[in-house]
Amino acid sequence: MPRFPEAPKSVLIRAARGDGNQSDTRPSAAERRASGRARISREDLEGPHPSTLVADPADAGEYDASEYDASEYDASEYRADEYEGDQHGVEQDTTGADLDSRSTGMLGANLPGTNPPGANPPGVDPAQPGPGQRWSTWRSVAKGQRGPEPLPDWLVTRDAAFDTELGILKTGKEADAFLVERAVPPGADPASGSASDQEAERCLLVAKRYRSLEHGQFHRGTEYTEGRRVRRTRDQRAMEDRKSAWGRAVSATQWADAEFVALRDAWSAGAPVPYPVQIDGTEVLMEFVGTEVTDDEGRTQAVAAPRLTRVRPSDDLLESYWDQLTHGMSVLARLGFAHGDLSPYNILADGERLVIIDLPQVVDLVANPFASDVLLRDCRTVCAWFTARGLDVDPDALFADLLAQAL
Ligand SMILES: Nc1ncnc2c1ncn2[C@@H]1O[C@H](COP(=O)(O)OP(=O)(O)OP(=O)(O)O)[C@@H](O)[C@H]1O
Ligand SMILES: [Mg+2]
Repeated sequence: MPRFPEAPKSVLIRAARGDGNQSDTRPSAAERRASGRARISREDLEGPHPSTLVADPADAGEYDASEYDASEYDASEYRADEYEGDQHGVEQDTTGADLDSRSTGMLGANLPGTNPPGANPPGVDPAQPGPGQRWSTWRSVAKGQRGPEPLPDWLVTRDAAFDTELGILKTGKEADAFLVERAVPPGADPASGSASDQEAERCLLVAKRYRSLEHGQFHRGTEYTEGRRVRRTRDQRAMEDRKSAWGRAVSATQWADAEFVALRDAWSAGAPVPYPVQIDGTEVLMEFVGTEVTDDEGRTQAVAAPRLTRVRPSDDLLESYWDQLTHGMSVLARLGFAHGDLSPYNILADGERLVIIDLPQVVDLVANPFASDVLLRDCRTVCAWFTARGLDVDPDALFADLLAQAL
């Protein structure tokens, strides 16, 4: 369920193009400032309903599962829904279904370029949050629940900022990912909460919201949670007693907590993961990995980076992706983690940059007795993709190398 019930839902959905050759065109904080304080108004978001849009045929068939080497790639290790979804192009199927309630990918949202001041109806204070907006939650969470230092220069930290929910990126079994803009509205008190004049005014974030057990379909078993420390024994007992409302709520919070901590540690250690902005209960806010492009009519569109399954990189880029991925896996291993669900579905190809996502199930390589099986599976799964793309890689060698770094 979206946390902002009145959030505009009519953002134009467009599948990300996976040509694998995009460069990172995101504007720097300075460029954003120079281009004015774009803020999303509800009016700007009232585009055609996604159900009226036709999938772009050019996006179909980018991922050909037959290219995988079946001997190395065990499809049974995937959840059927996610595997089927991409193979059959469900992600682009926008025909008439309720996009909010099913497990499909929505990989882009139309954003206005420059918006008229204020998203509120006439007579309502534009400096107050309008429909689909809330005050930035940056300051309302404790310091330890915010992202690690040094804060990236693109991050908006001013109290005067609003969070505007722009649409849903993807609904999943356990969590939904929403696109959120955090921006200081035009006319806001320049002094309020501002640490510096140079501070960013606008940024795009992803809000990943975990569902409690009664709403989500958690599939992960003790294989993942074994060896994980739970902060309070009361929580531990509650998680074991999943029938209780408290137990269900705690479990969702624990997954969110686990993802935030894994992102924080991995980012701080230099792994290619989205910057974790903050955690607030069952919501993890993180860097949006993607680009904003402006079309001929001046409309700005946020396009999420495609998953690795959807790109066909050049030979050089493929090698670069391999280097980035193995670097990321090494960083995790040295921290004592295996990703636990690493696959081309949980790796984003952001132009030349590769970003590992979806880390709630990281496993402790020392404390978890199943960890080496999980790590080997991660290695085999990612190697299968690179092998299918023509790179000569060895999952056993990668596994041995990572294990040696972990222990
Ligand atoms: N930081 C991000 N930037 C851009 N897109 C993102 C980001 N995080 C997630 N997404 C998009 O949302 C999708 C789902 O995210 P994620 O894999 O973390 O959630 P999930 O609930 O585990 O989904 P699934 O069950 O499909 O694995 C991703 O495949 C990606 O397309
Ligand atoms: Mg995922």
